[in-house]
Amino acid sequence: MTPLRVVQVGAGGMGRAWLGTVAADPEVELVGIVDLDLDAARAGAETAGDPSIPVGTSLTALAAETGAEAVLDVTVPVAHHPITLEALHAGLPVLGEKPAAQTVAEALSLAAAAESTGVLFMVSQSRRYNDRLVAFRQHVRGLGDLGTLSTRFAKAPHFGGFREEMDDVLLLDMAIHPFDSARYVLERDPVSVYCESYNPSWSWYRGDAAAAAVFTFEDDIRYVYDGSWCAPGAETSWNGDWRASGAAGTALWDGDHDPSSDLDGTPGSPAAADGVGEEIAGALSSFVRALRTGVTPDGEVHGNIMSLAMVEAAIASTRSGQRVVIDEVLDRAHAEALAAERDDAARERLAAWGSVRNALTAAVPATG
Ligand SMILES: NC(=O)c1ccc[n+]([C@@H]2O[C@H](COP(=O)([O-])OP(=O)(O)OC[C@H]3O[C@@H](n4cnc5c(N)ncnc54)[C@H](O)[C@@H]3O)[C@@H](O)[C@H]2O)c1
Repeated sequence: MTPLRVVQVGAGGMGRAWLGTVAADPEVELVGIVDLDLDAARAGAETAGDPSIPVGTSLTALAAETGAEAVLDVTVPVAHHPITLEALHAGLPVLGEKPAAQTVAEALSLAAAAESTGVLFMVSQSRRYNDRLVAFRQHVRGLGDLGTLSTRFAKAPHFGGFREEMDDVLLLDMAIHPFDSARYVLERDPVSVYCESYNPSWSWYRGDAAAAAVFTFEDDIRYVYDGSWCAPGAETSWNGDWRASGAAGTALWDGDHDPSSDLDGTPGSPAAADGVGEEIAGALSSFVRALRTGVTPDGEVHGNIMSLAMVEAAIASTRSGQRVVIDEVLDRAHAEALAAERDDAARERLAAWGSVRNALTAAVPATG
């Protein structure tokens, strides 16, 4: 198979990680780098090991010039909606960094555009690509009826830059990873949430760097998140510390090492599962495989939006002090998306959806 010709948009901090991953993957070939900041694009070409790689500020122009077959979007969240639309309408499948878009409404618009153009939009929710997370789910499957899943997340990073200035930094920039992993592990979707976010007195972040949330999932399962980005001492892993409790026992995962389970006092031995690769490299392989086979990948935009809805619902709960129903968040976002949609075909798709939840969870047609 000849490698897939990709243009990468965005060559900032995370963009450099992607350039290294693309260079290491023989199934893809980087044919161009787009960035509003041409110096960043040129520096990206150096990082990719080939300063002669074409660079530009226009995705449409560079993709046409280089004969690109797909787009990697590693821009900032505010640019995810316009860049993805530009690519889909040019017939170019997109693998985009999380979050799918800045808001659930924009993400619904992108799901509708993927439907109306018939072109794949996959979100790289990188922490899903972890064989130990897959193994943890295998343990959880052995617990029988489930009661509770919980994540404790405690880190104390000094990032500098935009994260220390933004609102709701923990919920918006980080919590989508464990929220998405909770959906993956439970194999169910969320129903409602009560959340309190807060900022400890010693926090070096302007926005709330800590949050406690209780989600109710389908089948009355609780997912409890207790996270902080300003919790020095005895830090957890970046994936957090996980515990699942079911009728037959408990499963544990520290986020870094092999998970375990205890079933009625004996160690659980779950069935082996296929490997999924490691973080963004796993997402990239899954994207290429999807384009080659037509199989819908994990992270296809419809399947990813509920994780973003969990973030938006948690923030709405913390603002209102009330429990927030996820379907209400989805319905409000749907109305907003319909009102804002400028593309007739995408608006028709949005208007044809019955319940948003059903539109997001129904089988998605094979993509190309
Ligand atoms: N999966 C993870 O663990 C992880 C970690 C860090 C960042 N991210 C995600 O990666 C994305 C990028 O984050 P970052 O830290 O690299 O940001 P960044 O600000 O360092 O880089 C973004 C780059 O995109 C460029 N850009 C912005 N708008 C553009 C547009 N319209 N067209 C072309 N270029 C544009 C900027 O000039 C900049 O060079 C974000 O969505 C972020 O959430 C994911």
